[in-house]
Amino acid sequence: MRIIKAKDYDDMSRKAAAIMASVITLKPDCTLGLATGSSPVGLYQNLIAAYERGELDFSKVSSINLDEYKGLSGDNDQSYRYFMNHNLFDHVNIDKNNTHVPNGLEPDSEKACADYNAIIHASKGIDIQLLGIGRNGHIGFNEPSDHFTAETHCVDLTESTIDANKRFFEKEEDVPRQAYTMGIKTIMEAKMVLMVACGADKADAIKGMVEGPVTPQVQASILQFHPNVVLVADEAALSKVTSI
Ligand code: GLP
Repeated sequence: MRIIKAKDYDDMSRKAAAIMASVITLKPDCTLGLATGSSPVGLYQNLIAAYERGELDFSKVSSINLDEYKGLSGDNDQSYRYFMNHNLFDHVNIDKNNTHVPNGLEPDSEKACADYNAIIHASKGIDIQLLGIGRNGHIGFNEPSDHFTAETHCVDLTESTIDANKRFFEKEEDVPRQAYTMGIKTIMEAKMVLMVACGADKADAIKGMVEGPVTPQVQASILQFHPNVVLVADEAALSKVTSI
């Protein structure tokens, strides 16, 4: 695992965007694995700025997002489809038909997951998977558990995640209790993983991911077995890692 120290959120966003931009430049028809949350917003802003300067072309790029709340439509401003449109897709020349997010409006979980797995299997593989990390070490919405789940599945969100994500909703009751998420095997099959993390509330999760035992209780710890992981994080997020 390569660890790149960033001075602050802006520096993290710039450095991580440069890595993602280089993948797009090297392979214009790449498949990006994309993430939501506050951590990647600055990275997306940097990509949009590079596009506006004429440095990046998204016309042949495809994307597969990590997750979506079950029960939210793409028009709901808390859905991850809305987030992606608003924070990236509406501002670059990506063909939205080539952008994929699980269908939050599909009530049949088995069908929603099978449909998303079919999209993943039909792709030529994820060239770079962007990840944030939850306070409890979750990636996508793979919550702490007694096992790792391979492919797309429906999860019950933990109290810690509901608490962390309630800031985006009017009331805590509005936070969906379930989500569809890409599984760990799919994430591990990405050719490269790029994680961004910022702030002291991520320090325990980052320590578990980098130095802790590989355990489904800290789902990100499995990334220790991935051959090509780059973590871009600020000092606060790295404060509990002793091996750097
Ligand atoms: C959500 C998302 C994750 C994200 C995490 C951290 O739970 N499903 O993909 O990494 O939040 O979000 P933030 O970057 O806002 O701290």
